[in-house]
Amino acid sequence: MSRLSTCLPETSKIPVVGAAPQGANNPHAAASAVREMFTSIAPRYDLLNHVLSFNVDRIWWRRTARTFCHILARPDARILDLCCGTGDMTFALRAEAGKASPRILGADFSHAMLQRAAAKSVAIRSGAKKIASAPDWIEADALDLPFPSAHFDLVTSAFGFRNLADYDAGLREIARVLPPGGECGILDFGEPKGAMGSLYRVYFKQILPRVGTMISGVRGPYAYLPASVERFPEPAEMLRRMKDAGFREASWTPYTFGIAGLYRGKK
Ligand SMILES: C[S@@+](CC[C@H](N)C(=O)[O-])C[C@H]1O[C@@H](n2cnc3c(N)ncnc32)[C@H](O)[C@@H]1O
Repeated sequence: MSRLSTCLPETSKIPVVGAAPQGANNPHAAASAVREMFTSIAPRYDLLNHVLSFNVDRIWWRRTARTFCHILARPDARILDLCCGTGDMTFALRAEAGKASPRILGADFSHAMLQRAAAKSVAIRSGAKKIASAPDWIEADALDLPFPSAHFDLVTSAFGFRNLADYDAGLREIARVLPPGGECGILDFGEPKGAMGSLYRVYFKQILPRVGTMISGVRGPYAYLPASVERFPEPAEMLRRMKDAGFREASWTPYTFGIAGLYRGKK
């Protein structure tokens, strides 16, 4: 038996410590399934996002960007928006930066999602609301970033971190590309509690997957969404993981009854 084939069964036994789309039994398979899934819904992703969140997603991106206005106001700052998808979080950062022109980079491992982000950049560049400098885009895996250590002042991720095949490895990689004092902001879904939580669960687990499947024409991704949120660590555990990865002042701010929330930390 060759070296490669002896390695494969061992790899497949590694427990998944992050996202686990149905049928994926190791981190490599999970990452491939996640990439395929987002690539398959890329054409309808923006429409679905806004319809399914009743446009509240725009408020969440803007609120997250505002949180980091002290970094975005620095013309020399370097900002990475991880798992940027079609770029809405990245554009919110760009808008918050205003006339300051920090270097803002959106990174994602789905080529189809990035193509949409780049097309939106062109439209914004040539549109009425001209911006000082458009973000740049790069195809990259959040678990293996092609940047030197301490390269960015701020790393954000909106609704992407939850999809990583290894949460701790993701946090370590974010910490690696930040210098001491650099900040990270992870915006993601949560599970609201109480009466609001019960109501929301009916919508999120029963209505959203049906509407999502109908509009996207793709079976799977919109059933994966509530499953991935259920699997994602609770805030207390996520904050513990952030501290273990080297972040201090780790905090979580719930948005809209905790339907979403922002994790922050400083390296
Ligand atoms: C739910 S979308 C979020 C997109 C965008 N940030 C937003 O707020 O709409 C998640 C994105 O994470 C990307 N993603 C998931 N795992 C990734 C990884 N390991 N490396 C890079 N991108 C990843 C997917 O391709 C997808 O575009």
